[in-house]
Amino acid sequence: MIHTRISGTGSYLPGEPVDNASLIAKHQIDSSDDWIVERTGIRQRHLAAAGVTSSDLALEASRRALDAAGRLPADVDLIIVATSTPDYVFPSAAALLQSKLGIINGAAAFDVQAVCSGFVYALNIAEKFIRSGSHKCALVVGAEVFSRILDWKERGTCVLFGDGAGAVVLEAADKPGLLASAFHADGSHHGILSVPGQVCGGVVTGDPFLRMDGQAVFKFAVKVLADVAHEVLAAAGMTADQVDWLIPHQANVRILQATAKRLHLPPEKCVVTVAEHGNTSAASIPLALDTAVRDGRIRRGQNLLLEGVGGGFTWGATLLEY
Ligand code: ACO
Repeated sequence: MIHTRISGTGSYLPGEPVDNASLIAKHQIDSSDDWIVERTGIRQRHLAAAGVTSSDLALEASRRALDAAGRLPADVDLIIVATSTPDYVFPSAAALLQSKLGIINGAAAFDVQAVCSGFVYALNIAEKFIRSGSHKCALVVGAEVFSRILDWKERGTCVLFGDGAGAVVLEAADKPGLLASAFHADGSHHGILSVPGQVCGGVVTGDPFLRMDGQAVFKFAVKVLADVAHEVLAAAGMTADQVDWLIPHQANVRILQATAKRLHLPPEKCVVTVAEHGNTSAASIPLALDTAVRDGRIRRGQNLLLEGVGGGFTWGATLLEY
């Protein structure tokens, strides 16, 4: 039987961090560092310079993940980029990343659009490709430039998000690896979190900025993150106390704390990086994973529970032995 295993992780945050006070001053936002820290836990974020795209951020994160895995770009036969802020309408950020990595072996490349759950979706898709025997070495990336879709006049959203990328190399292996996965969607909730615009006839029609009902998103996120965690634990025949590290989508520290509490996990078992980079959507889970791998918290053989929730609504989780 073919299993899958993460052989390397990498991440990248562009430029210097922008703290809350600097962001407020630059965009004249009617807010305060105290409000943002108290309601969200966010202290700073990174913002990509003009012209820097999701595939540029993905490139840096991918190089680091490949180095960590001891792999060359030529070893990769599948590239999946989770993003809601791709460089272009098309081609995909994954195809552009393939080109920037200099991969000329015909590796399959495509994007996954599941907003903040995108990385969990992409990881699950890559796992299914590898377990089928069709592919052996996948680069799975979450990369976003959410700063491009923020309305700086809307204080309830513009202080929450940042830009960044995270990547893993997922390979065929003799032993697990990924233990259990689940991913879901319910499109009837599309109205509480969306960017309801499109390009048509050379102009943007509708609204090109992120719009959100924060309280509705908060309640929905906490519920489904707990539900899907229980679902994958049951599928793997495991209990929450066997989880060494919970690595949720980094949206808001209060959502992370509420999720850990519902799973009866002590807060110190939850990897929290949102203070350093804000909500980076599909990039946030691999960013948090890479941070905790590189600072030595996550070690080989430990059980990790990765889970995300985002616009759509979409949600999903993966339980794995690192
Ligand atoms: N600074 C100061 N005041 C603000 C700000 C701000 N940046 N934003 C909103 N306020 C004000 C509101 O206008 C409101 O004022 P009022 O009482 O005079 O009307 C007051 O603060 C309270 O607003 P609420 O929306 O009730 O504040 P809440 O405690 O719910 O916090 C927040 C808002 C942080 C958005 C919260 O609802 C939240 O985190 N929701 C989850 C959203 C999220 O994380 N989305 C990420 C995308 S989805 C995902 O990743 C899962």
